[in-house]
Amino acid sequence: MVYDCPVCNERDLTIMKALCSRLSWAYALAALLIGLVTTAALCADTPVTPAYLDTATYRGATVCKMCHNKKDAPTYTHWEASAHAKIAGSLPWKEGETPAAEVAYRHVTGYSAATKTWKDKGVTCEACHGPGSAHMMAKDKTATIIDPAALKTAGQQISVCGRCHGQYTIGGQKVALNYKFGQDLLATDGFTLAEVKAGAAMQEMNEVVASTHFAKGVTCVSCHSSHTATPQAHQLKKPVNELCLSCHQDQTMAAHAPKAAAGATCATCHLPKGSHAFAKPKAE
Ligand code: HEC
Ligand code: HEC
Ligand code: HEC
Ligand code: HEC
Ligand code: HEC
Ligand code: HEC
Repeated sequence: MVYDCPVCNERDLTIMKALCSRLSWAYALAALLIGLVTTAALCADTPVTPAYLDTATYRGATVCKMCHNKKDAPTYTHWEASAHAKIAGSLPWKEGETPAAEVAYRHVTGYSAATKTWKDKGVTCEACHGPGSAHMMAKDKTATIIDPAALKTAGQQISVCGRCHGQYTIGGQKVALNYKFGQDLLATDGFTLAEVKAGAAMQEMNEVVASTHFAKGVTCVSCHSSHTATPQAHQLKKPVNELCLSCHQDQTMAAHAPKAAAGATCATCHLPKGSHAFAKPKAE
């Protein structure tokens, strides 16, 4: 459950929920004392997913392309070069077959479990920005679309990518079929992360949430960019050492790992086999 409450909206939901339940008790007591009939619940279980999403529908990437492929901001063209776009051409099932929900879910955009259909093949714009029907005609372009990096909490941010890049169960399913953009899966009732093998594919969320990075609010979008004019390996925002050093100024290779093998990067020691636990290796 996601709480629409200034206090509960903070990262540490366990403590905050406890705090809020106490606060709402205090409010209940106060409400009784001044003779009000209703209880003023400070922390109502109101989802923070924006209201427009109740009716918004998927329109498909070709529609986004109409406005988002300008000469000075060719977002569509940048995205088209990404692994996410290319999934459309290499789906893990044959034409005419009906893939299992948990397979389809990770490879298409706008999947409907009820009809086993989708809007687009591949991970297209609306897979990360949410259904875009309201956005296109709206005056307020910001309030009618999701910017994953602008979501308030680390839990909300990581859910955008982690619903696909995670291994978990929710409501008896292996994928979040009812995921709503803006939702924090980690704080949703019945959500359980699965045990995973370090560095295995499509489980980055499992490792990241257990890391110091996540505890400090560092999420997927702090390190990865999904469409950029200067694409890097693994969709990193910057070349790997430059990326890490943008926050860890003191840990330069020269000062911090002078004995590292030629060609080693921060990832060699801190993301062995692509593991996202970001553990501190034992010093020699
Ligand atoms: C009719 C034109 C139009 C269409 C169609 C359109 N957009 Fe936009 N969009 C805009 C404008 C204008 C802005 C604000 C300026 C900008 O960031 O380019 C914007 C901004 C955005 C932003 C940034 C919002 C923010 O908070 O910074 C995102 C993300 C976005 N659009 C995604 C999409 C997606 C996904 C689609 C397809 C479903 C889409 N747009 C279709 C015109 C359009
Ligand atoms: C895999 C996820 C993902 C996909 C797919 C994706 N985006 Fe984005 N987009 C992001 C993230 C994350 C941001 C926030 C800025 C950043 O960190 O790159 C963003 C930012 C934007 C912005 C704000 C301006 C900017 O570039 O920072 C626009 C506009 C936008 N996306 C449009 C699109 C359109 C149009 C498509 C499809 C052609 C698309 N996005 C596909 C994740 C995605
Ligand atoms: C709808 C599901 C889905 C969503 C949402 C999604 N991804 Fe992916 N992503 C995939 C799949 C499937 C692949 C595997 C592609 C392959 O192996 O060819 C992938 C591949 C990648 C890769 C590897 C790219 C490469 O060049 O090897 C990166 C990095 C990545 N995703 C990051 C992200 C980030 C960051 C977000 C959130 C902003 C995100 N993804 C959102 C499904 C998704
Ligand atoms: C602190 C920075 C950082 C964060 C946070 C981060 N990543 Fe990465 N990610 C990297 C780096 C660096 C690599 C390249 C690793 C390498 O060179 O082997 C990478 C690689 C990947 C790959 C490609 C793996 C492959 O085998 O090609 C995927 C997919 C990916 N990240 C997804 C995610 C997702 C999803 C999240 C959030 C749950 C995330 N990452 C969070 C830094 C980060
Ligand atoms: C957006 C900023 C940011 C980026 C980018 C970033 N980090 Fe971090 N990193 C942090 C923060 C914040 C911490 C928490 C400790 C602290 O406050 O210094 C941390 C902690 C760590 C730790 C210690 C982990 C522990 O368990 O104590 C390691 C190792 C680390 N980062 C490696 C990396 C590597 C490697 C990269 C590049 C792939 C990277 N970081 C990119 C912000 C960042
Ligand atoms: C040859 C392996 C190696 C390389 C390459 C390497 N590190 Fe480390 N790093 C370590 C070890 C070992 C530790 C633990 C040191 C300790 O506990 O005293 C560590 C610790 C860290 C920490 C935690 C520091 C703290 O005090 O908690 C950060 C942050 C970090 N490294 C960032 C980086 C960055 C950024 C790069 C790339 C510029 C990098 N590392 C490259 C081996 C490496």
